[in-house]
Amino acid sequence: MSLPNHGANAHHVYERLGLEMPETVIDFSENVNPIGPPAFVKERWDSYAPLITKYPDPHGEPFLSAVAKFHNVSADKVIVSNGAAEIFASLAKRYENKRAVLIHPTFSEYAATLAPYNVYIKEIIATGALPLEKVFGEIEFAEVIYICRPNNPTGYLMPLEEIIRIADYAKRYKCEVVLDEAFLDFIDEKESFIPYLKDFSNVIVVRSMTKMYAIPGLRLGYAVASEPIVDEIRSRMPHWNSNAIATTIGADCLEEEQYRLQAIKFAKEMREQMTVFLEKWNCIVLPSTANFICFQLPNPSLSKEFFEYLLANGCVLRHTENFKGLDGKWFRVGMKQKPQMEHLQKEMTAWFEENLSS
Ligand SMILES: Cc1ncc(COP(=O)(O)O)c(C=O)c1O
Repeated sequence: MSLPNHGANAHHVYERLGLEMPETVIDFSENVNPIGPPAFVKERWDSYAPLITKYPDPHGEPFLSAVAKFHNVSADKVIVSNGAAEIFASLAKRYENKRAVLIHPTFSEYAATLAPYNVYIKEIIATGALPLEKVFGEIEFAEVIYICRPNNPTGYLMPLEEIIRIADYAKRYKCEVVLDEAFLDFIDEKESFIPYLKDFSNVIVVRSMTKMYAIPGLRLGYAVASEPIVDEIRSRMPHWNSNAIATTIGADCLEEEQYRLQAIKFAKEMREQMTVFLEKWNCIVLPSTANFICFQLPNPSLSKEFFEYLLANGCVLRHTENFKGLDGKWFRVGMKQKPQMEHLQKEMTAWFEENLSS
């Protein structure tokens, strides 16, 4: 039976494998900020309750204006969504019966949302740097290319100059670029493509609020693009698509500069510690810029055994069965708080000592 296509909701992994779920489970398969939502969310929680008695603003205010201010763009170029996932779902019809380029391994929702629309998908495999000439060659024949920057699940950050070159090349061939910056908050806003959008009406930048601000259950995301594209995405979304609590909290989240800096620093520290640990055991670790890392055992044929051993001991890694180019031989670990990372290392050490030494 196939494993779930997404991280999180760990009980599904146990169900699919027919394994009993231990009482305590730490879910390293999801990759939201382990620090948890900004403190104000809890402090002001009671003040959000009255919001549920009224219809929310159909365009997602006050979040819409907060995003426009944060990125210094006009609000006409922003569309607020019920998570970044809703943008991909609403955008897909735009490419019906057309040709799309996907660079694997990557987030599975690009292919999943295009699937109902008879889109011809050209796949390129790259776990690290992109084969640019190949990408350019495919862009010439395609109507859209999806790029995840930094990429999930590898954490690879394509250089900004490269994405600008791709956008430029795509513009010449009337190809659009759907640029997923869901994890960019963990790097530096200076890395975002949003300031370059004024020169590239063919690029749609998609952002998520659920990763950095640890609010995946609340659902909030947005896209920044040219007005005609924003209007088209909006036309396919339900009225009142984002809820009033999410848009109110989201607007305040964007004010949380210190919180963001702390999260970036923490993710880097945890990533580095985990990399040192894994490399000590001769695992291959892909250099990541996000709050997760991807690694392979020195003997990948033991991957299934290793995965199930950790599951039995309450540690859920993100399998890579459905990531083309990784094919179940790699794992993704979302960074957690220090005690949880230490617990994972303890459980891994027990397995490594049994199975890797000698
Ligand atoms: C790369 C990437 N983009 C977008 C999303 C969707 O994020 P949201 O929770 O905002 O829908 C995810 C969720 O895992 C993701 O990994």
